[in-house]
Amino acid sequence: MDLYIDTANLDEIKQAAALGVLDGVTTNPSLIAKEKVPYAKRLAEICEFVKGPVSAEVVATDYDGMMSEAEPLRKIAENIVIKLPITVDGLRACKTLSDKGVKTNMTLCFQPLQALMVAKAGAFLVSPFIGRLDDVSEDGMDLIHKIRQIYDNYGFPTKILAASIRHPKHMVDCALAGADVSTVPMSVIKQVLSHPLTDSGLKKFVEDYKKAFGG
Ligand code: G3P
Repeated sequence: MDLYIDTANLDEIKQAAALGVLDGVTTNPSLIAKEKVPYAKRLAEICEFVKGPVSAEVVATDYDGMMSEAEPLRKIAENIVIKLPITVDGLRACKTLSDKGVKTNMTLCFQPLQALMVAKAGAFLVSPFIGRLDDVSEDGMDLIHKIRQIYDNYGFPTKILAASIRHPKHMVDCALAGADVSTVPMSVIKQVLSHPLTDSGLKKFVEDYKKAFGG
C-alpha cells in the first residue's frame, strides 16, 4: 500500500519525506486555506520535495471552470494530479482530462457506484472518505471493501486512495481491505511509528546494556 501525506504544510511534507517511505501528497481547498499561501506557489514547493503524485484540487464546481483551473495546475509540475469532485460536471471533466492523458483524483466518494463511474471515465485515483462516513454512523471501511471488489470484478486500473483517515486502525483496515493508497495526516504517521511496548522495550534494552557494560 502506498503512503501519501494529506496536508499542504511544507514542514510536515519535509518531515514525512525524510522518513523515506512517502509516495505522494494530497491537498484540498480546506488544507491550503489553513496555510494562507497562494495554492500554485505551495504546489510548486511541494513538487520540489515529492516526485510521486501530488493532488491539486479545483474549486470550480462547473465543467468549464474545472477545465480552466486544471490547465494551469497541471503545468506546475509533471507529477500534479488534478483532483475533482464526483459530480456530473466533475465526471465530465474527468473523462475529458483522462482522454488527454491527464491524471485525475476523483474526490468526495461516499458510495461504491461513484467509484464505478469515475473508473469508467478513466480516473487515475478515487478518494473514498472513510472518517466522514464513520462520523455519520455509516461504515467507511465497508466502502473500501466494496470498491475493491467492483474494481477487481472488472479489472479497472483506477487506484483506491483511502482518505479521511483519522487513526492507525483505519490505516490497518485499509491495508487489509486492499486499498492501493492511504493518505494520512502527519499526526497519524507519528501514531503509526509509536507503540508503548516499543518505548518501554527500548528503554530496558538500553538500561540493561549500560548496567552490564557501562556508558
Ligand atoms: O483530503 C481529504 C480527506 O482526507 C479529508 O479528511 O479528516 O477532513 O475528513 P477529513
